[in-house]
Amino acid sequence: MRSSHGAAVAQQSEGRNPPSAPALKGSRTQAEANRQYFREAYRTGEHGWEQSEASPHVLRLLRRVHEAVPGERLLDLGCGEGRHCLIAARLGFETVGVDYEPLAVERARRLASSAGQGEIAFCVGDALSLPFAVASFDVVVDYGCLHHQRKADWPTYKANLLRVLRPRGFYVLSVFSPRFRLFRGSSRRWHLAHGAYRRCFTREEMVRLWESDFSFLDLVEERGKDRGMWHALLQRRALATKDEKP
Ligand SMILES: C[S@@+](CC[C@H](N)C(=O)[O-])C[C@H]1O[C@@H](n2cnc3c(N)ncnc32)[C@H](O)[C@@H]1O
Repeated sequence: MRSSHGAAVAQQSEGRNPPSAPALKGSRTQAEANRQYFREAYRTGEHGWEQSEASPHVLRLLRRVHEAVPGERLLDLGCGEGRHCLIAARLGFETVGVDYEPLAVERARRLASSAGQGEIAFCVGDALSLPFAVASFDVVVDYGCLHHQRKADWPTYKANLLRVLRPRGFYVLSVFSPRFRLFRGSSRRWHLAHGAYRRCFTREEMVRLWESDFSFLDLVEERGKDRGMWHALLQRRALATKDEKP
């Protein structure tokens, strides 16, 4: 599928064809197992999410954001091979992609440069310890990174997000919903596949996690045979000032 401005958009999401990775061993922590999974995924190139085509849902939400804040600074958190960085930069955002897997970042740089989009900045970094200054972004995108973070790490993820995203900035988030095939028929909300942690979110959890700091502008559930993803557009609330009336 091609969008009106020429960006390729995809109907698929991750999980179709995960690579084989060694089973969890003794003292390895879940965080290490996740990294091992992603390292292997990018080494083999056989991961289950799209490599170059953007999600049409992310494209739709980014267009909405672009109408509100054209050309401002955007961070793609867990950018992988950079497919959403490409469409963000084409829309006119000054775009930065960050991922903790060096091979993904290397591939993202190569793809961007061969697409003539060498202006996109990519760096290696952890979503739980972001290497960026306070309020340095107007928009943050996360497609498929948060749902690999354990619940115990959500406060750290959130603190990092709130540090780098300016007040009234936008957050475009895509995460598994309970309709994703791994979670169907199970009351458990997490799943380990090939060593990697995956978490699905109910609508109530999404609201509970974000409502204290964000307003929901859009929340849709993508449904399909094997599919189930939430796509959300949130806007960070303004900071309360001491002069503000209750
Ligand atoms: C399912 S992939 C999605 C990649 C990309 N967002 C996309 O849509 O193609 C999840 C990505 O998140 C990255 N990731 C997972 N946990 C991370 C963390 N704590 N810090 C930075 N990147 C992380 C992985 O390396 C992987 O590239």
